[in-house]
Amino acid sequence: MTEKPIRVDLEQITPTVSHDPDPWKKNPPSFYGMDYLDQKMDPGTVTRWDDNGIFYGLAVGVQGLTKLTPIKSILEVGCGRGWVVRHLRNLGFIADGMEYSDEAVRFSVCESRKGDLTEKLPYDNGSYDLVLCIGVLSHLPATSLINAANELARVSKRFVWTNIQLAWHSHQLHHKTFLPHEIWSLIFAKAGLREAEEYNGFLKKCGLDHPLRRATIWDKVHPKQSGALNLWQEDAEFLEVLRSIAGITLVDQVRAHMLWQISRSVSDTVLGDIAEVGVYKGGTALLLSKAVRKGVKIHLFDTFKGIPAADAKKDLHKAGDFSDASLERVQGLFKQDARVSIHPGVFPETAKELSGPFSFVHVDVDVYESTLKCLEYFSPKMSKGGILVVDDYGFPSCPGARNAVDEYFKGEGFVYLPTGQCVKLY
Ligand SMILES: C[S@@+](CC[C@H](N)C(=O)[O-])C[C@H]1O[C@@H](n2cnc3c(N)ncnc32)[C@H](O)[C@@H]1O
Repeated sequence: MTEKPIRVDLEQITPTVSHDPDPWKKNPPSFYGMDYLDQKMDPGTVTRWDDNGIFYGLAVGVQGLTKLTPIKSILEVGCGRGWVVRHLRNLGFIADGMEYSDEAVRFSVCESRKGDLTEKLPYDNGSYDLVLCIGVLSHLPATSLINAANELARVSKRFVWTNIQLAWHSHQLHHKTFLPHEIWSLIFAKAGLREAEEYNGFLKKCGLDHPLRRATIWDKVHPKQSGALNLWQEDAEFLEVLRSIAGITLVDQVRAHMLWQISRSVSDTVLGDIAEVGVYKGGTALLLSKAVRKGVKIHLFDTFKGIPAADAKKDLHKAGDFSDASLERVQGLFKQDARVSIHPGVFPETAKELSGPFSFVHVDVDVYESTLKCLEYFSPKMSKGGILVVDDYGFPSCPGARNAVDEYFKGEGFVYLPTGQCVKLY
């Protein structure tokens, strides 16, 4: 078994490993006969139709997604014999299947349609809210991947859900194309899709990604919707800082840029301390510390043991979410910065000694009670001209945070940004 080097050239993708006689050629439909379709590849998983099987896991994953966004119609491209489609229909979705293998279509349990992902799919633009494509892309010749991504994006109204298999396990090496995640991101970006962190993160937190390890949801909605310039891609200092927080923040590039601009301009001109509640692994806190040019105090608050309490009637997050943070690691990030004080524990208990005033505050706590406590604590202590940003306002996974903001600022006015953040000016 020899591994070829991975070339990062989109136009001439080289497969990592291949046991195929010719990785550049398509397998014929007869490659996927009944013996293939009903074989047991992983112990028992491929053909399992029970509540623990991989097919049921996927359907339940889709159901989980509807907690965040409405999804009614689903197409599964490469649906095999159609077990997932059948599960989805049983769960109340409008679901259809498409298959390349003649045998799979013939013995389909969902009356699937014949189609070929290396060519044009037999569906109109935007026909389905979600297009599933699981365990398929790595079977295609590398030269077809961009067409495949384009076709999935074209037929989808909003989401494409794939498992872009990376070569982790030796038993998967018979596939044609295993590419690193970054290349898949480029291929999908070319098709106008971006990785939907929000939905991936949510499913992971629910434990719903388990049957489809490494499955990824791609979203057709881009930050650049208005035709305005994406200035966050041109700010060299910001981009350098963004690289330094990769892996320790849940906040995406555009939201991070809002924080960067607002905290910098406010701290340059308004007197007061800086604060963040909801530090987690320290990503946005580190960004703020670099954006703020002055020698002002920067207060960081978190339990570092996850969300302390949540209300199942108001919140989708649960107590204990984000418990994989480490106080020691966050302390390590700031050990050279004398301006920073870290206050571990449940806010606002941990802020009793402080009186403000504050010029800039970032609230990123995801749930109703924590958000409300932050607003009650900080609002009376904000300097004139100061700004408070709530990260979670527009995120379907954080309805409680939005309720808290609406309740607290009722009739007072605040600004909602298309990034999902909301901003209160004092
Ligand atoms: C989404 S994470 C913060 C993400 C972070 N800003 C980043 O850059 O990725 C939410 C954090 O809020 C914290 N949190 C929620 N309620 C809290 C409270 N009342 N007191 C302290 N920390 C709280 C959780 O422990 C969790 O680490």
